[in-house]
Amino acid sequence: MATESNPDESRNLIQTTRVLVIGLAIVIVVLGLALIMVGIGQSLIQTAVLPERVNALANSDDECVVCHKRTTPGIVEQYGHSTMAAAEVACQNCHEVKADYPGSVAHEGTYVLGSPTTAMCEKCHTTEVAQFNQSRHSLPAYIAMWGVDGLQEQHSENFEDLLAMYEAIPEGSFNPDQMRNALFVIEGPDVTRFACQDCHNVGRPNLDGSIGQCQKCHLRHEFSLEQARKPETCNHCHIGPDHPQWEIYQESPHGIAYATGGHNWHWEAEAGTLTVQDFPAATCAICHMSGFGTASTTHDVGDRLTWYLFAPISEHRPGWQDNKVRMQAVCQECHNREFIDTFYTDADKLTEAINTWVIESDEIVAPLKEKGLLTAQPFDEPIDFTYFNLWHHWGRTAKFGAWMQGPDYVQWHGAYEILHDMAELRTMTTEKLKQASE
Ligand code: HEC
Ligand code: HEC
Ligand code: HEC
Ligand code: HEC
Ligand code: HEC
Ligand code: HEC
Ligand code: HEC
Ligand code: HEC
Repeated sequence: MATESNPDESRNLIQTTRVLVIGLAIVIVVLGLALIMVGIGQSLIQTAVLPERVNALANSDDECVVCHKRTTPGIVEQYGHSTMAAAEVACQNCHEVKADYPGSVAHEGTYVLGSPTTAMCEKCHTTEVAQFNQSRHSLPAYIAMWGVDGLQEQHSENFEDLLAMYEAIPEGSFNPDQMRNALFVIEGPDVTRFACQDCHNVGRPNLDGSIGQCQKCHLRHEFSLEQARKPETCNHCHIGPDHPQWEIYQESPHGIAYATGGHNWHWEAEAGTLTVQDFPAATCAICHMSGFGTASTTHDVGDRLTWYLFAPISEHRPGWQDNKVRMQAVCQECHNREFIDTFYTDADKLTEAINTWVIESDEIVAPLKEKGLLTAQPFDEPIDFTYFNLWHHWGRTAKFGAWMQGPDYVQWHGAYEILHDMAELRTMTTEKLKQASE
């Protein structure tokens, strides 16, 4: 029995216990030290990298602030730490409107907009709003779901104005493919409310006639430059099998630099003045939006692009030579001329090679179209999906992967899948032709 064990055994037990107690003591001391060091480290990081911005609204006696501190404390807390609050921009500047303003609601003796529109931002940020309006993030994004007919249905009162704005965007109305609008209709509003619309409403017209939702990138109410500049912001929409810019970025050398060293970059540096000291590698915003080196800040995300890469068969954009100069000015802060020229020549060649494959896929199914062997309804038979995946997923992925340095997306999610779908299309076409002749 254990209680009557021999002395040797109990000595062993005492020794084991002693070892355990000492071990435990050491562990406690080490853990304690580690905790203290982490604490010191964190306070160092906080003071060195993230100076705590004061809450500009801490002592405010503004009536909106005083009451909303109780009703929606999160909003007041966030807004209090923004640079706009520090610059004395008030809740009223974005929210308060006249009684007859479209969308106004009566509120505590005045009238407010529950969701301030770009017209409110425009009072102080005319340049950003004008640039945004010239981009495909504006009306083209919305029309990509609804089509022009849908725009007319949804906004019949000011349709003519909206159409004129849309047509004035030089590269805006390029919309070669109506097939996705068909998906929008097939799926219906119960589904698309949480799908297409969540992303494409970035360009939705507002009741007051202004366009778009700045808050899709500038999450209310911090309006933080750091948050807008981080690639995670773009990742809400630029992700997934058909436009995996986020996934591509993560596997690119630029994305690796961001993941491993990004915490030391100057995310809050003043806009328009950014240099390689602030950002030693590129982010989505650096290449597409930020003022960087000699390139100036823009909210027109098409301003530096040469191709319509999203199209089944890519074409050059209007003014693409100027756009190219602007993008290459960004690259040139970090890469030499020769490197950039070679890269562009090679990426142009890849774009044309993918075009050739997509044209070939059109030729494969052409006899079915000529003989009327495809149903008129899109997305109702397997061949529609194979044909669509080939260019919409794999063709685009290969192009994006090449232009943004994601080799896996050029190869295994790109070229390989194109070849695979091409083989399937051939088999499907032969079968259908055979069936028709039987
Ligand atoms: C006496 C308290 C009080 C005052 C003063 C007040 N609010 Fe509010 N506000 C509220 C409450 C409570 C709600 C939430 C109502 C709800 O949940 O339906 C609200 C809602 C809102 C909303 C959302 C409205 C919507 O329809 O989505 C906005 C925007 C707003 N307030 C802005 C303001 C602004 C700007 C001011 C100053 C001009 C202000 N509030 C003054 C209490 C107040
Ligand atoms: C720089 C412009 C701006 C300022 C200043 C501003 N807001 Fe807002 N507010 C917005 C935007 C944009 C939205 C988002 C609407 C949306 O997402 O549909 C919003 C939404 C809201 C909402 C509705 C939020 C919800 O989730 O239901 C409330 C309430 C609100 N703001 C209160 C305030 C208060 C109180 C202040 C001042 C402390 C303030 N806002 C300052 C731009 C602003
Ligand atoms: C009444 C004028 C006014 C309105 C309205 C206004 N802003 Fe601002 N905004 C400013 C000022 C002033 C600054 C500069 C703050 C600074 O840099 O010190 C600023 C700065 C910003 C910044 C940069 C923040 C930073 O940290 O540098 C963003 C982003 C921004 N505003 C977005 C918006 C959006 C989006 C809206 C509309 C929902 C809006 N603003 C409405 C005046 C305004
Ligand atoms: C996760 C966000 C997201 C969802 C969901 C989404 N899209 Fe898109 N869509 C995008 C992005 C981002 C692009 C831009 C790709 C590019 O330019 O490379 C795009 C591009 C497009 C284009 C090509 C551009 C044009 O104007 O011709 C069309 C058309 C389109 N989407 C329609 C739709 C439809 C219809 C749906 C729903 C059936 C949908 N999208 C769902 C984000 C989304
Ligand atoms: C696609 C995302 C996106 C959208 C949509 C967007 N912004 Fe920005 N915004 C950014 C980024 C990124 C920056 C930082 C640019 C940089 O790195 O200098 C920025 C910077 C700003 C600044 C500070 C610029 C400066 O030079 O001081 C203002 C003001 C601003 N945005 C206003 C707006 C307004 C108003 C809208 C709506 C019309 C809007 N933004 C829509 C991403 C966006
Ligand atoms: C709310 C969703 C959303 C967010 C967030 C977003 N985008 Fe977009 N973006 C879109 C959609 C939708 C399109 C395609 C519009 C079209 O062509 O119809 C697009 C298109 C683009 C294009 C191609 C424009 C053209 O002319 O073809 C670029 C470049 C781009 N976005 C960059 C960015 C960057 C950089 C960010 C982050 C700072 C960002 N986007 C954040 C939805 C978004
Ligand atoms: C190193 C610079 C760089 C970075 C980083 C970068 N891009 Fe790009 N992006 C490019 C270039 C170059 C092109 C192709 C330009 C052309 O057509 O000439 C491109 C193309 C695009 C397009 C395609 C537009 C079309 O025609 O369909 C979108 C959308 C886009 N980028 C969004 C993003 C997003 C989102 C991120 C971050 C997740 C990102 N980019 C990161 C340089 C960059
Ligand atoms: C802010 C600096 C910066 C900018 C701007 C920048 N890059 Fe880079 N780039 C880097 C760094 C850092 C690397 C990683 C270098 C390495 O692989 O050692 C890199 C790597 C690359 C690579 C891979 C090189 C290799 O040897 O595999 C390509 C291709 C590239 N960049 C293209 C571009 C293009 C095109 C642009 C402009 C559209 C651009 N970069 C803009 C910093 C930058």
